[in-house]
Amino acid sequence: MSILVTGGAGFIGSHTCVELLNAGYDVVIVDNLYNASEKAVDRVKEITGKDLKFYQVDIRDREGLNEVFDKEDVESVIHFAGLKAVGESVQKPLEYYENNIGGTITLCDVMRSHGVKNIIFSSSATVYGDPAFIPITEECPKGVCTNPYGWTKWMLEQILTDLHTADPEWNVVLLRYFNPIGAHKSGMIGEDPKGIPNNLMPYITQVAIGKLECLSVFGDDYDTHDGTGVRDYIHVVDLAIGHVRAVEKLKEKDGVSVYNLGTGNGQSVLDMVKAFGKACGKEIPYVIKPRRAGDIATCYCDASKAKKELHWEAERGLEEMCEDSWRWQSQNPNGYAE
Ligand code: NAD
Ligand code: UD1
Repeated sequence: MSILVTGGAGFIGSHTCVELLNAGYDVVIVDNLYNASEKAVDRVKEITGKDLKFYQVDIRDREGLNEVFDKEDVESVIHFAGLKAVGESVQKPLEYYENNIGGTITLCDVMRSHGVKNIIFSSSATVYGDPAFIPITEECPKGVCTNPYGWTKWMLEQILTDLHTADPEWNVVLLRYFNPIGAHKSGMIGEDPKGIPNNLMPYITQVAIGKLECLSVFGDDYDTHDGTGVRDYIHVVDLAIGHVRAVEKLKEKDGVSVYNLGTGNGQSVLDMVKAFGKACGKEIPYVIKPRRAGDIATCYCDASKAKKELHWEAERGLEEMCEDSWRWQSQNPNGYAE
């Protein structure tokens, strides 16, 4: 029996495939390569010394998906595939709703027709909106999102919950990620954003490598220890291992479960600039700019539910996250491109 990983060629997906293979699972990737390279798949095989199946299929392509499920003996699905650029989602709401929501509905329908009713879904801390309290537990109410990307996560959590209500044979694990950074120790796989990065860490690494001149720090007047935004940065390998634990959790057939995956620690933008400067051995130039629309001051989690129920805890600290991000960026200045 295999684990089917949609979006398995992407940043978090590729790291998760490594950890699944290391844990002895058979892996089938479905990815349309819209935001990924097949090289990531080859490198997953190289890192683990194990083989996996790769299908370049779009999750909106019902026929293509049917063929994959006909051929492969799939036990559970880890569903990463989706569009994730927050700003772009504001410009292209229909494309985001169609890809993320339409794609997930097609995926679930094909799963159902093949009797596969176990799914782990990539959600986000963004569903908490401006969180009602900090640290954020899973009891914290879902909030108001500031962009269509966030709403796709919010709504897909609801859609998957409704699916379980209608048919209790479905087992659903909703994983709410905080801010994944870092890369595999080998430096062979990592985050490879197209164009100018929107997120902090890839922006910093591209300043360090000389591709971008200077980091803009969005706001220094928040109510935080140094005035800049505070987030819960988590090493992507810890996040990946969290998915392996979630696969094990599915076997308990618990219906719908939701977990925060973060470290429980908050770091400010300037903390990150300092930590990364240390890891790469050079200062990161920055300028203070106005706040970015839609940003909140502070976001970090209480990760004790995942510790108790998934027997999972983030183990890699900030220094390691920065060193590993830097190794990936310096060994692959142009990401997966030649
Ligand atoms: P990513 O873009 O690297 O990976 C997504 C993968 O899905 C890509 O390989 C892309 O080619 C593929 N894909 C997109 N649409 C597809 C479709 N219609 N059919 C088949 N494949 C498709 O992003 P990531 O950072 O690895 O994120 C993975 C998941 O986690 C996403 O759902 C994202 O929204 C969610 N998430 C990410 C973060 C983060 O900070 N990276 C935070 C919270 C949640
Ligand atoms: C963002 C998204 C969130 C998404 C997550 C992962 C917004 C409002 N939120 O989260 O929905 O799930 O990415 O894709 O876009 N910063 C700078 N300069 C930069 C970039 C970022 O100062 O060039 C600051 C931000 O203001 C923030 C922190 O760094 O305080 C982290 O930003 P980012 O990496 O974009 O993540 P989030 O905003 O937490």
